[in-house]
Amino acid sequence: MRCSTALTLILGVVVSLNTTDAEQPEKPVETFMHAKLAHSQSILEGLAVEDFDQIAKSSQALTLLSEEAGWNVLQTAEYAHHSELFRRNTRALTETARRQNLEGATLAFIQVTLNCVECHKHIRSVQQARLDSPALPSRLGVVQ
Ligand code: HEC
Repeated sequence: MRCSTALTLILGVVVSLNTTDAEQPEKPVETFMHAKLAHSQSILEGLAVEDFDQIAKSSQALTLLSEEAGWNVLQTAEYAHHSELFRRNTRALTETARRQNLEGATLAFIQVTLNCVECHKHIRSVQQARLDSPALPSRLGVVQ
């Protein structure tokens, strides 16, 4: 056995830590957005234990999520740009996982993670510009 059991335990702790703030019933947008986090955690687990099927399935799920209507929360050109980059990177991740290229998949996952951070930065800047009438109930770091 490799270190998969320990990693699964660690990931389990991470997942349970992330769900402890869900005391209030989640709104649909939040449920949708939190699915991204679950798929990302699953990709990390897949990378850690070299499970290419798990990586490919979860990154494909991310691509599909980003193609749904609910994804288009903001109607800015920059949001569309981040979404396009995100899809490109999740597709690259699926491809490298199918080719069983562990280093390539790890790098692609880093790109995807950078996309998460960049798009959320954009959302915060839009929301800060609209603090009088916030468009989104953000928990991405903006104090309202
Ligand atoms: C193209 C833009 C975009 C990308 C890329 C993106 N997100 Fe998001 N994310 C959003 C939007 C929009 C929201 C909703 C913000 C709000 O409610 O104010 C959101 C919200 C979230 C939330 C919920 C935050 C809360 O309110 O509790 C999580 C978790 C999340 N994203 C995770 C991720 C992860 C993980 C990735 C990368 C795999 C990612 N996101 C990539 C646009 C994006």
